[in-house]
Formats: sequence, C-alpha cells, structure tokens
Amino acid sequence: MNKIPIIFDCDPGHDDAIALIFAFAQASLDIKAVTTVAGNAGLDKTLINAKKILGLLGRRPLLAAGAAKPMFRNLVTAPQVHGESGLDGPAIPLPDYPEEKVNAVELMRRLITESPEPVTIIATGPLTNLGILFTAFPEVKKNISTISLMGGAIGAGNWTSAAEFNIYVDPEAADIVFSSGVPLVMSGLDVTTKALIMKDEIDVIRSLGGAVPVLTADLLDFYFQFYKKNGYPGAALHDPCAVACLTHPALFTGRRYHVVVETKGKHTDGMTLADLRPYSDAKPNAIVNMDIDRKEFIKVLTEACAAYPKA
Ligand code: BDR
Ligand code: CA
Repeated sequence: MNKIPIIFDCDPGHDDAIALIFAFAQASLDIKAVTTVAGNAGLDKTLINAKKILGLLGRRPLLAAGAAKPMFRNLVTAPQVHGESGLDGPAIPLPDYPEEKVNAVELMRRLITESPEPVTIIATGPLTNLGILFTAFPEVKKNISTISLMGGAIGAGNWTSAAEFNIYVDPEAADIVFSSGVPLVMSGLDVTTKALIMKDEIDVIRSLGGAVPVLTADLLDFYFQFYKKNGYPGAALHDPCAVACLTHPALFTGRRYHVVVETKGKHTDGMTLADLRPYSDAKPNAIVNMDIDRKEFIKVLTEACAAYPKA
C-alpha cells in the first residue's frame, strides 16, 4: 500500500490529542513530522502536550515548534475548553524528546521540498505556521497535494457567532491558506459538531484496557465536561475529522464551495464565508465536509485505540 506522506500541524488540545492517537494507528498514513503552533494554549504548552501524546503512543516523528503568536494579532487561547495546560485531566508523563533545532516552518519547507511525492498536511490548530510558510516559501505549494484542516463553519461559529476558534485566532493566516490555490478539505463545525462521542462510548474505549485507551478515555472525560455544560449530548471530536476524512472518506459527505475568510469584519472577523449561490461562477477552492456517519466514526476511533500495545 502506498502510504500518504503527512505533516501534522497542531495545537494540542484534547481533540488534537485524539486526532494524533487516531492518526498514528492508521496504516495508510506515513506521518513524517508533527509541528506545533500556539492556539488552545501557548506554544510552550502545546509543544509539551504533543511530546506527552507521542510519548504515550511510543512514536518519534520529527517534532518542531512553530509560531508563538498569530501573524498580525495577539494570541487568544481556550483554557475554558482545554484547561490551563491545554491538556488538563489525566497526568501523562513527559518523555525526554528533544524537538528539532529548526522552527516548524523551516522543517515543513525542507520536508515538502525534499519529498519525492506531494505531501498532505493535516492542520488542526490556527493556520499561522502555514500562513508564514506560504508567505516565505510560496514555491512549496506545488508539492502539497491537500491540506485537510479543521476550521471554520458554513453555519454558526463557536468562538463568536460568526467564527470558529482556529480561524478566529489567526484570520490573516487562514486567508493566505484559503487563497493559496492548494486543494483544501475543510472539516468545519458543520460536520465536527456532528462527530460527537457519548459518555458510554468513552467508557467502551476505557474498557479496552492498556495505557492508550485508558488515557484517551480520561482525556475525553475532561473534554466532555465543557460540552455537557454547553448542552451537547456528547463531546465534539473536531480535530479527528481532519484525519478520518483522509483515511475513511466514505464516512463523510462533502460539497465543493468557494470559501473566503473575513479579516476585517466588525462582527464577523474569522468567519469562513462560502459562496452558496447555485449560479455562482466562483471556482470552488475547498471540499467542505458537512455530514458524517457518526456511529461508524466512533467504531474506527475505538479500533484505533485498541490497536496500541497493551503494556
Ligand atoms: C477547534 O478549536 C480548538 O479548541 C480545538 O482543538 C479545535 O481544533 C474547534 O473549534
Ligand atoms: Ca486544535
């Protein structure tokens, strides 16, 4: 099987953590590097959290830290969702795992340039690293096959009524990515708020036994509290959608739209605006995932947790 070469750019974050756990269990992915960005928490914390998850999984991809703040704005973080550490809940040991000496942007540039086949990027945090990459090294775009990103919404936002968190944090970077010409798959809130995991499904994962399932369930328990408080029947697995739509595309239903990012709105900063007009001649720049087979998605996530060694 030809594996898909991947760079995984993230801001862990509970759902980023679950996305990493899911991704590293997929035989179809060859994850060359994990890169981190400030978002759910500051860059120092998202790097530590990435190390903890990779340590838990026993995996050692190249790891590099990227941007500590958005391209042109102050950083906004999400402690009300993920806690002060960005990954509150269970104690996960911090492995001795030195990151690369180079910045994430330089690591991405090198890996994409040197790759014999086009690289796919999974992006589950603010798009700052990619915005900087495309500004500094636009030539890399031609060797990227797809960016599968969690971000945005065609319908309601979550951080503001118009904007989803990842896009809201760095709209200028998102604008650069959405107008880059690189094929995009957008898993926004339209689909990710349907990708819910329920309490009894978390318990099934825990009952598998072993460090990965138990800590995955403990992370989900913490994350679930925020959604419960906000009236959801389950926790929204936003970031895993950006992975699963590559590995299990049959679970998703998407539509092609031309999507732009609002960077100057009084009430709409960070909004992703899709051209929904049936007669529009704007060329689609993204496949926008709108629906998911939730039950099957939870099944493959559970199988991914079960695939890790029990020790
Ligand atoms: C996104 O915001 C973050 O809090 C999550 O990790 C996810 O990437 C959802 O809006
Ligand atoms: Ca995230």
